[in-house]
Amino acid sequence: MRVTWDAVTAEKAGYDHFMLKEIFEQPKAIRDTLAGRIKDGVVDLAQDISFTEEDLKGIDKIHFVACGTAYHAGLMGKSVVEKLVRIPVEVDVASEYRYRDPIITPSTLVVVVSQSGETADTLAALREAKKAGAKVLGITNVVGSSVSREADQVLMTWAGPEIAVASTKAYTSQLIAIYLFSLHLARVRGSLDAAELKAYTTALLNLPEQAQTILEEADAIRPFAEGIAKHDNLFFIGRGLDYAVVMEGSLKLKEISYIHSEAYAAGELKHGTLALIEDDIPVIALATQKAVFEKMVSNIIEVKARGAHVLGIGLQGDTELGKSVDETLTIPETLPLLTPVLAVIPLQLLSYYASVARGLNVDKPRNLAKSVTVE
Ligand code: G6P
Repeated sequence: MRVTWDAVTAEKAGYDHFMLKEIFEQPKAIRDTLAGRIKDGVVDLAQDISFTEEDLKGIDKIHFVACGTAYHAGLMGKSVVEKLVRIPVEVDVASEYRYRDPIITPSTLVVVVSQSGETADTLAALREAKKAGAKVLGITNVVGSSVSREADQVLMTWAGPEIAVASTKAYTSQLIAIYLFSLHLARVRGSLDAAELKAYTTALLNLPEQAQTILEEADAIRPFAEGIAKHDNLFFIGRGLDYAVVMEGSLKLKEISYIHSEAYAAGELKHGTLALIEDDIPVIALATQKAVFEKMVSNIIEVKARGAHVLGIGLQGDTELGKSVDETLTIPETLPLLTPVLAVIPLQLLSYYASVARGLNVDKPRNLAKSVTVE
C-alpha cells in the first residue's frame, strides 16, 4: 500500500499551499462576514455591537490602528468612513501610535484591526486608547483573542483559520467589516439616504460571486507572475483607493517572493521615484477608479516613456487602459468604494505565483511570523 497524502496535505484540501487555498476561500469568507448583518437593504449590527445611537452620534473622530496587512485595511477604512460618514479619520501603524502622543478624547473611536487579535503593538495601542478614555472597537478574526476580550465592542470577521503567514482572506474580510461598520454609522448618523444604503448593501452581497469569477481565471495571472519573478525590483502605482490596494499588493509580493517593490501614489512618482524607472522594469498599474482614470493614464504614459513594462489592471468593459499598457488584466465592476475587495485578488495571485516560480516557501517566508507577540 502506498500512502500518497498526509494530514497537512489533507488540510490543504488539494491545494499546493495554504495561501492558495485561503485565496480561493475568499468568496466564502466574504459571504460569511456579511451573513446576517444586512436586512432589507440596511446594515444591522445590533447582534454584534452595542454602542448606543447616542455613542455613535457623539463620535467626532476615528483612529484606525493596526499592523501589516491589517494596517492596509485601515488605510482603506479612512477613505470609506470619510466618504460615507464624513467623520475625520487618522490611520496609524500600532508601533507608532502610542509614542506619538495622539489626541484621544472620550468622543474618539479607536478601531483596532487584527486578524489574530494578539499582535503586541496593536494590543498596547488598544490599552493606551482605553486609558485615554476612547471607545475601542476591535475587528478581529479570532474569537476569544486578547483584542476580542479587551475592546469595548467587537466586530468579528468570519474568514476562518488563516494558516499562511501572508494574509489574504483575513484582509478582504476586514474590508467587509469596515464597510459594514461604516454603513451602520452612516444609517445612524443619517449621512446616507435609504437608496444609497440599499445600493451599497446590494453591491456588497454581489461581491462573493464577483470574487469567484476572478478566481476562475486565476491561471491567466501565472504568466505575468513568471515574468516578474525574473526581476529584483518593481513598482506598483495607483491613485485613491487603488493606492491603498497596491500598498497591500506590494507588501504581499515582498513577503513571499522577496522581490523588492514599492507602492507609489501614481501622481507622486515624478517627485523622485521616476528616477528609478528604467528599461524593462515592471510596473503594475491599478486603474479601477473612474474618477481619477485619466490622471492614472497620464502617469502610466510617464513610466512607459522611460521604458517600463506595464501591467495594467482595470475594470471589465474598459477599452481605454489597454491602449497605454503592455498587458492588461480586468476585474468585474462594483461600486468604486467596494472595488478594493476585488482588486486585491489578482495582486495576491501575482505574489503567490511569483513565489512559486522562484521556488520559495510560500506559506512560511523567511524571518516572518504569523502573529508577532513582541513589541
Ligand atoms: C504579522 C503577519 C502579517 C499581519 C501582521 C498583523 O506581521 O505576518 O501578515 O498582517 O502580523 O497581524 P494581525 O494578526 O494583528 O492582523
